[in-house]
Amino acid sequence: MSTRRINVALGERSYPVVVGFGAIIEINSLIPKSAKRAVVITQKEVNFMPKLEIDSTTVNIGNGEQHKNLQTIENLVDKFAEFGLTRNDVVIGVGGGMVTDVAGFAAASWHRGTAVVHVATSLVGMVDAAIGGKTGVNIKQGKNLVGAFWQPSGVICDLDALKTLPDREMRCGLGEVAKYHFLTGDDLLSLEMTDRIARCVEIKAEIVSGDERESGRRALLNYGHTLAHALERSSNFALAHGEAVAVGIIFAAHVAHAMGRIDQSRVDQHYKIIGQTYGLKTKPDEKFNRKDLVALMRSDKKAVSGLTFVLDGPSGIEVVNGIDEKHLDQAFDAMQLNEK
Ligand code: GLY
Repeated sequence: MSTRRINVALGERSYPVVVGFGAIIEINSLIPKSAKRAVVITQKEVNFMPKLEIDSTTVNIGNGEQHKNLQTIENLVDKFAEFGLTRNDVVIGVGGGMVTDVAGFAAASWHRGTAVVHVATSLVGMVDAAIGGKTGVNIKQGKNLVGAFWQPSGVICDLDALKTLPDREMRCGLGEVAKYHFLTGDDLLSLEMTDRIARCVEIKAEIVSGDERESGRRALLNYGHTLAHALERSSNFALAHGEAVAVGIIFAAHVAHAMGRIDQSRVDQHYKIIGQTYGLKTKPDEKFNRKDLVALMRSDKKAVSGLTFVLDGPSGIEVVNGIDEKHLDQAFDAMQLNEK
């Protein structure tokens, strides 16, 4: 068994991410020495239980974005209190991005900050959600609008968990991997699985280390996400995050083209990488209403001044504020989104 260990360098809040088949064996080494008890937060579908050397209890949360809410946090903190979890103890999130976002937020809030360790069991979780300390839940006005930056004490990405991951969830993960492809130009699919995931973690760790609270470069990790979040919400989450990100990247390429930032050949390259290289859909089958999507994009939490997108351009990928709606219309026309 060979695992890779990547450090997320954040001074005294630095932590390791252990990637590889069988990486779960490292779990006890990531738990803070002060912890005498652990609450494991997971979902009944996950079925990937770490063997802990400290006293623990397991709490299942619901599956699906509709459970990623404040009610779930309230239920969890009730369980923490019942179990007698102290701030010296540890919360362990075992699951995909939803579980680690919720577990992280519950840990951040419990006694104003209790340690959390993440065991990512989905590809999205491994390459993105479990790394970097973004935690939170949805409210009816938007995704992840209530949350905190709370770095874990360590992250496990055990590739054994991917063996039973449904194909659709694997494809969702590839949407996020494709994002790193555009951010770095790395040919990630040429790497075998452990190295590919480790490379994605390295890219994210490097960005997070330089901009933990997203005052600059970290926003690039949202490439494709402005439309993606709107598509997810508009479809009532029938379209999964990674699928929406793949479509959102294509849309961002069309917006960049409409603004004269990139030429048609670069748009074509986006289609080739998303569609052929990563085998992802470049357009959803579902029908969407353009006006609804624009309204949702305007309410995106990243939109501090009008419509905000991460866009490709002559100096590479960067955050662009104050996008004119006519460029979105041109992009929708070019993409021929199914409209209702
Ligand atoms: N998922 C984007 C970020 O962690 O910043």
